[in-house]
Amino acid sequence: MQKTDFLVIGSGLAGLSFAVKMARHFPDQQITVITKDSVNESNTRYAQGGIAVVTDLLNDDFDKHKKDTLIAGDGLCDEYIVDLVVKEGPFRLQEIIDLGAEFDRSPDGSYHLGMEGAHSARRILHYKDVTGFKIQSTLLDEAHRLSNVHILEHHFAVDLITQHHLGEVVTKKSTDIKCFGAYSLDLKTHKIETYIAKTTILASGGIGQVYQLTTNPAVATGDGIAMAYRAKALLENMQFVQFHPTALYGNPGETAFLISEAVRGFGAILKTRNGKTFMEKYDERGSLASRDIVARAIDSEMKASGDPCVFLDCRHLDIEEFKEHFPNIYQKCLSLDIDVAKDMIPVAPAAHYVCGGVKTDEWGRTNIDNLYCCGEIACTGLHGANRLASNSLLEALIFAHRCYLDVIQKASTLSHMENIPEWQAAGTTQPREWVLINHNRTEVKNIMSDYVSIVRSNERLQRALNRLEIIHQETERLYKTTTLSPQLCELRNLINVAYLIVKQSIEQKENRGTFYNVDIGAER
Ligand code: SIN
Repeated sequence: MQKTDFLVIGSGLAGLSFAVKMARHFPDQQITVITKDSVNESNTRYAQGGIAVVTDLLNDDFDKHKKDTLIAGDGLCDEYIVDLVVKEGPFRLQEIIDLGAEFDRSPDGSYHLGMEGAHSARRILHYKDVTGFKIQSTLLDEAHRLSNVHILEHHFAVDLITQHHLGEVVTKKSTDIKCFGAYSLDLKTHKIETYIAKTTILASGGIGQVYQLTTNPAVATGDGIAMAYRAKALLENMQFVQFHPTALYGNPGETAFLISEAVRGFGAILKTRNGKTFMEKYDERGSLASRDIVARAIDSEMKASGDPCVFLDCRHLDIEEFKEHFPNIYQKCLSLDIDVAKDMIPVAPAAHYVCGGVKTDEWGRTNIDNLYCCGEIACTGLHGANRLASNSLLEALIFAHRCYLDVIQKASTLSHMENIPEWQAAGTTQPREWVLINHNRTEVKNIMSDYVSIVRSNERLQRALNRLEIIHQETERLYKTTTLSPQLCELRNLINVAYLIVKQSIEQKENRGTFYNVDIGAER
């Protein structure tokens, strides 16, 4: 059994930011960060575009950022949360700049602000086209400097510990659920360790891997969302999965390479294979309409033409400047024989971000005592039915800070729970056939991609639910009889996440933002 003061699950921007703040505030308390891969691997690292913060007060203001967020969220954002997020943005931004994060500047020394879809002003701070990677590295350097932050790589959090593990019955209706820490599988020793903590922070990111095509890294299997669900946390808005309109097409692998929305902000235009523009048919903002609209428009064009992709035309742009702003994208295209000065870039929508997740209040608190959530896993109310581009890094910083404020304020009253039982692995054996796990994983991804994607229907959702039920039962049988492996844990988590998306999609009776069901009328 391992005792730590604060347990952080996930090593992206939200988790690391919380860990660093806590460690600085309480130099004599221990913060353990567990992460299932290497510490660098998270959605934060792949965030290209940047972070949306109002800094240019001549051309922008909080009201504009707020309005853009509310419009993108299609009426389902929590206005109070939107207001606090945009207003606290500059303070949190300054903190990471003070830690050493760099952002591109214009020749006059001011920040170079990028433009992205559905923003009414230039407000995206960025470092070339690798902003997330840069911020994550800054925080990681700081975490490594702090001797009371312990980062455990290759540790897979399996389940949150609640009264359920003490033999009590915990249901969705229970009002006094408490979190005491988590069980975690050490991927090197293959042992399950018990981590007891006074407070647990879930910051384990998104769910993209539940789909075949996603911009998310292989680690994004919704582990935190699934664990929280099993612990009876409240989850909402899971039906709102954002598809990024422009993932590079024809680059197979577990992660689709992203062609940042900032490229369209820079002037690139969406076209069909024949070089015809089409976005004007769907929205007067053209290629810079909000993501839900652009992704649906591309999906519709692809279905009409039978083409597996559309194209992003950059040929009219200043290519030297393009290379300066998007060196990573330029090189990636070149590596696939796409010269953006001469060739259009083939792109298609890919699962990118879940707007919903574990329901939290304005302090990142969940319905489970001593369990906080921040980052993509949390449903704070900021995104509503569709996240505004580049609002996610901002949200992660704001809510990591708010979790930190709430925890330090009650820290003196927190204690460890004793008598937590160790994980029971007795009676389980190695799986005899890995194909049972691998096949079901592929099947879940196929079901979600074919039936629960950008455009849904009642019949597709019902089919998805029926099939997931069978896979769920098969996998639970396996789980009860075999030793735990990361493959099996991920499969269980993907099934839980898929189920939540499907179930909440069936319950959704209006088409809003990223959610579109052909059987629901366009009117609302
Ligand atoms: C992008 O660069 O297009 C992605 C940024 C985001 O998802 O906010």
